[in-house]
Amino acid sequence: MTRIVHLSDLHFDRVDQRVVQALRDEINADPPDLIAVSGDLTQRAHRHEYRSSGAFLRSLNAPVLAVPGNHDITYLNMLERFLDPYRRWRRFVSRDVEPIWRDDTVAVVGLNTARRFTFGLDWSKGRYGVGQLRKFRRRVQELPPNLFRIVVAHHPLHPPETEPELAIVGRAERALACFQKLRIGLVLSGHLHRDYVHTHAVEAEDDTRMLIVQASTATSTRLRGEPNAYHRLTVEPSGQVLIEVRAWDGERWRTARAREQGARLTRPSAEPAAAESRAPASTGAEA
Ligand SMILES: [Fe+2]
Repeated sequence: MTRIVHLSDLHFDRVDQRVVQALRDEINADPPDLIAVSGDLTQRAHRHEYRSSGAFLRSLNAPVLAVPGNHDITYLNMLERFLDPYRRWRRFVSRDVEPIWRDDTVAVVGLNTARRFTFGLDWSKGRYGVGQLRKFRRRVQELPPNLFRIVVAHHPLHPPETEPELAIVGRAERALACFQKLRIGLVLSGHLHRDYVHTHAVEAEDDTRMLIVQASTATSTRLRGEPNAYHRLTVEPSGQVLIEVRAWDGERWRTARAREQGARLTRPSAEPAAAESRAPASTGAEA
């Protein structure tokens, strides 16, 4: 069994400090095995915002795996945006924008969907790259095949049922097909500041499913009609996932919902298991 805290869209320094402090206290009172952060650590990629978000993540008593969101690359310094968009990420958060973490039950793989440029006026949407998915496939195929496979990426693969018009990540269909083939059981994302779960139907004889779990903003004051919230996930080796939604009620964190869902069980397959040794796990924020 692996316990994961899923945070998203922190948006330092546009945060409620009471929420931040209470979140730190409750995570540290019951630390998980891993904290997965699905992007937008900052509001405008300012240095002081990176400093605050990095300090917050380092104050948590668990390993952190984080991926960038569209807010984490600067709009204010176009030279840096195009030439070295992750310079501040590397300095304040992690050397890696696509880290991997694993234990005996799960493998968690980060994918960076933020883009320094996309065709059209809105550069915030994000996209999966063809070469990126190819590289991802190679990395996943090198993992031990018995691990439950989890992806962390900022942009949503599916809109909320109540707002189907909301934009999703570019090349979502291609990414979903790739994830299905690789038997990904769980995708953790954010960006929309809305909390919902989409069960992606997989046409397979064994009735397995892929859960797409979208988190609201954990700490930002930029709310979209929902309270601040985050997830506590428990993943069983069988592929059963308990999703507990912890929401801020204005005074404290409370469990808003808890639901148990069966996800795709990653079973031994014909894929090569090249990385049988316990390679050092790469974590997001360095302590
Ligand atoms: Fe975002």
